[in-house]
Amino acid sequence: MVEPFDVVDLIHTKRDRGALSPEQIRWLVDAYTRGYVGDEQMAAMTMAIFLNGMGREEVRDLTLAMVASGDRLDFQGLSKKTTDKHSTGGVGDKITLPLAPLVASFGVAVPQLSGRGLGHTGGTLDKLESIPGWRASLSPEEFLSQLESVGAVICAAGAKLAPADGKLYALRDITGTVESIPLIASSIMSKKIAEGTAALVLDVKFGSGAFLQDPVRGRELAETMVRLGTDAGVATVALLTNMNVPLGLAIGNANEVRESVEVLAGGGPADVVELTLALAREMLALAGLPDADVEAALKSGAAMDTWRAMITAQGGDPDAALPTPKHTQVVTAPRSGVLVRQDALPFGIGAWRLGAGRARQQDPVQHAAGIDLHAKPGDVVTAGQPLFTMSSNDGDRFERALEAIEGAYEIADPGTAVETGGALIQGRITA
Ligand code: URA
Repeated sequence: MVEPFDVVDLIHTKRDRGALSPEQIRWLVDAYTRGYVGDEQMAAMTMAIFLNGMGREEVRDLTLAMVASGDRLDFQGLSKKTTDKHSTGGVGDKITLPLAPLVASFGVAVPQLSGRGLGHTGGTLDKLESIPGWRASLSPEEFLSQLESVGAVICAAGAKLAPADGKLYALRDITGTVESIPLIASSIMSKKIAEGTAALVLDVKFGSGAFLQDPVRGRELAETMVRLGTDAGVATVALLTNMNVPLGLAIGNANEVRESVEVLAGGGPADVVELTLALAREMLALAGLPDADVEAALKSGAAMDTWRAMITAQGGDPDAALPTPKHTQVVTAPRSGVLVRQDALPFGIGAWRLGAGRARQQDPVQHAAGIDLHAKPGDVVTAGQPLFTMSSNDGDRFERALEAIEGAYEIADPGTAVETGGALIQGRITA
């Protein structure tokens, strides 16, 4: 086969701030997926994109080329409307766990194809695998049948869905090219468009624990993704949310499942409940149910019933005890005052070092490892009171976790301004 382009020419174009044509982008993605374009050439290309950006049309063409690199799911045969959610990732972000069954309890289908954690951000599948017996891999038939019967499915995205993104994401991860708006937007939206959902709500995070720190860049990412979804026929809305502080009190795997179950039981930390309800309202509005009483579904146990059915359908025992750690270490308040800062990123890195996350894709995670916070910014604390508990199966991990967390929190005199970066939900972006 004669290749229609020379990849070095394409790299020169992006390096020199030019634009690639739709044909060039389609060829590049296809040639990379089949191995004709090498990792070193694609690394140069992604760095050129990282540094020089991409135009609107280029981002659209890149997204569609990645969709075309694999299979596209089709929910035509389903009797329910589909609506999904995607978060750009953060610390303590377990929202998918209570959200999917909550939304499905209204009779809509939530086809949530999730990933595993890498680095300081956790992965939904790792969290759910804390539940004895639960399995992440479903056949296409099992997936569709559970969507029809239970409504909510959280499972692993097969390797056939946007495989170009799988390859490209792994390359970006080791070449310092993750934090690029065109690359993040096309990566996320290619998977969601290939997944075939009719509607999508994006939780785009900014702040210390997010991929993008700056709210202005977060908004730009949200606008780019909403445009990509809408143009591809997926009804898409985004919430711009603050990830300067860990979400909820649990950071890890089993402890995040426990906190999610508290939310499904009508309790749980206020920030987790607020975001779960806001995203549920958006997802249900896109599915034609703008007046759904989502709070009532948490209080009545309807969402909990769907959770139990969802876990059971995937082999899990919703009543089984969750794993407990071999070792714990409590960190106490060095002085009395007000907790004015609790920086998400160092706590995420701390939980990761305790074993809740993985350094390499193939590593196992420790389901019982992580951090449980006992105070949140704005809380008044007394000297000696527990501030957070670290858990791990390896006692020698505590020191490195503490190194990460050192300086990440601050107790000050009453009246000192609390540094959280403002409200949890800071914007709503529509087409
Ligand atoms: N999540 C993704 O799937 N892709 C990115 O590029 C970043 C976050």
